[in-house]
Amino acid sequence: LKKHFKYENGKLLWGLQSIDLQSYLNNYHNPVYFYDIQLIASRFLEMKNQLRGVDIFYAMKANPHIDILKKLKTLGCKVDVVSGGEINRALSVGFFPQDIVFSGVGKTISEINLAFDLQILQINVESLPELERIIKISQQKNKPISIALRLNPNVDIKTHPYIATGLQENKFGIDISQLDQAINLLRSQTLVELAGVSLHLGSQMQEFSGFQQALLKLKSDFLSLQKYFPTCKKFDVGGGLGIRYEETDLEWESQSLQNYSEIIFSTFRDVKAQLQTEPGRWLVAHAGVLVCQVQYIKQTPFKEFVVLDSGMNHLIRPAFYQAFHQILPLQQKNGPEKVYDFVGPICESSDFFAKNRKSLELRSGDFVAVLDCGAYASSMSSIYNLKDPAAEVCL
Ligand SMILES: Cc1ncc(COP(=O)(O)O)c(C=O)c1O
Repeated sequence: LKKHFKYENGKLLWGLQSIDLQSYLNNYHNPVYFYDIQLIASRFLEMKNQLRGVDIFYAMKANPHIDILKKLKTLGCKVDVVSGGEINRALSVGFFPQDIVFSGVGKTISEINLAFDLQILQINVESLPELERIIKISQQKNKPISIALRLNPNVDIKTHPYIATGLQENKFGIDISQLDQAINLLRSQTLVELAGVSLHLGSQMQEFSGFQQALLKLKSDFLSLQKYFPTCKKFDVGGGLGIRYEETDLEWESQSLQNYSEIIFSTFRDVKAQLQTEPGRWLVAHAGVLVCQVQYIKQTPFKEFVVLDSGMNHLIRPAFYQAFHQILPLQQKNGPEKVYDFVGPICESSDFFAKNRKSLELRSGDFVAVLDCGAYASSMSSIYNLKDPAAEVCL
């Protein structure tokens, strides 16, 4: 079984405190997302320890649950946001404007106005027209703002194409060939201050050759920018540190964090830079499970389907990215193993959690836990088919 899961007296226990999930279910309409806040805290502390001196900005798009944000704030974490809604969520739990980095490719005028009015720490600028818009707003308001230029190094990190962001074909970041134009825009005015350079190559990085290549590429741009702009001191390495959904222990991930930090520190050993990072998935993915109930076991001459009361409306990752999530029954009963397709109630054939998956035999009414649902799960959910949202419970 995956780390932090065990069966005792046939019941599935989960988390750092070995909680019996079934015992919580009576309090809620199912399905329910459960989050283990202590697990998130321990992941954050592991990362903080490994990335000493690096400012950590949690990418709250992964999971903006209020209790998760509150906990991370108490531990000294800051936030990376991508909308006015996320800025307001961050403020509502007590983050200061100077704890906020604002990323995202389509910032609206009103979102940029908000960033100016609050005087947030930094806007990561994704395009020349966005830079022009920010300069115009600074002049209208006669107010300064700090920005970083998010550069697109055209590097492949070998992840799913839908979560790769550092290639020329992706909409993200300023192409390096346009850097001179960005420099000219910045030098033509005084209110928008260049605080640094940022990159984000995509999510679920499992190996770091592309990351290393991108850091080296952008390090030289960073050094040349410093010649024009003495204020350019920050280097934001983005998020993207991957996890292993299919593996049971977390050793690989700790090792991977270590390799990641060694690459960052060795690249910047000879450079004076305030380093920043924007992790999402690595901090929270393992700390969530989605518990849902079997409605029907539907047998056809070709397949056996487990029809759940939760589907792509609550967890779109399998449909969207062919993502893998382990599924465990809450009650461990004796019986044969079966091979099932786990599907949801939504009127789409892409509405499945797993196909041809071996499982203990299940019956209508049984509960199952879908593992590793702490990141990009409830935060990507919808009300498609006007199904109720899942409840979210912090343990
Ligand atoms: C700009 C930016 N930073 C950070 C992240 C977090 O990525 P991850 O959850 O893979 O660490 C994302 C996610 O896509 C992002 O777009």
